[in-house]
Amino acid sequence: MSEWKVGEPRFARFKPPIVLMGMMGSGKTTVGRVLAHELGWGFEDLDAAIVRRTGLEIAEIFSRYGEEGFREREHRYLKEMLLSSTPLVLALGGGTVVLPENRALLHETAVVWLKGSLPLLYSRVADDAGRPLAGAGWEVFEMRYRQREPWFQSLAWAIEDVDGRSCEEIAQNIISIWQNGVRE
Ligand code: S3P
Repeated sequence: MSEWKVGEPRFARFKPPIVLMGMMGSGKTTVGRVLAHELGWGFEDLDAAIVRRTGLEIAEIFSRYGEEGFREREHRYLKEMLLSSTPLVLALGGGTVVLPENRALLHETAVVWLKGSLPLLYSRVADDAGRPLAGAGWEVFEMRYRQREPWFQSLAWAIEDVDGRSCEEIAQNIISIWQNGVRE
């Protein structure tokens, strides 16, 4: 498990990408776009890459191959994206941290956890048919969060609260951490 936290020397060893993780609805894609734009870097969204490469929507992959089939594809494209030779902001899927092999890949990377209150996150995704795992109800959403929280915690190089904060504010704070190695 990572011992390093924001402000410690691990910062100095990082190179791109900056990776955004967090539950569904935490704003990984919207914050990621703003962040990439501000840094002048490329932006990739892991779900979008999976859709592009498979030619199938996320819900379709779940219904054809189940969660396991989705995770296999997610792992394959995550590996690919982490090898990018151009500087990148990469937005993960909410469940990318579930596979131990993905966590191992992310261990030496600048991973930012976008952390929000569960009712807020759930309200953003509960009715989204494009997110198959959000439709199973509040209890399942909460259960998945409880399972993932320790992984978010241990992988996070930085943690950004999302409740009541704009994407621009969050992106600016991440840039400041990236540049200075400390929180404002
Ligand atoms: C998932 C989150 C989704 C997507 C898939 C599974 C999850 O990504 O990868 O539906 O397990 O939480 P977002 O977090 O971008 O919605």
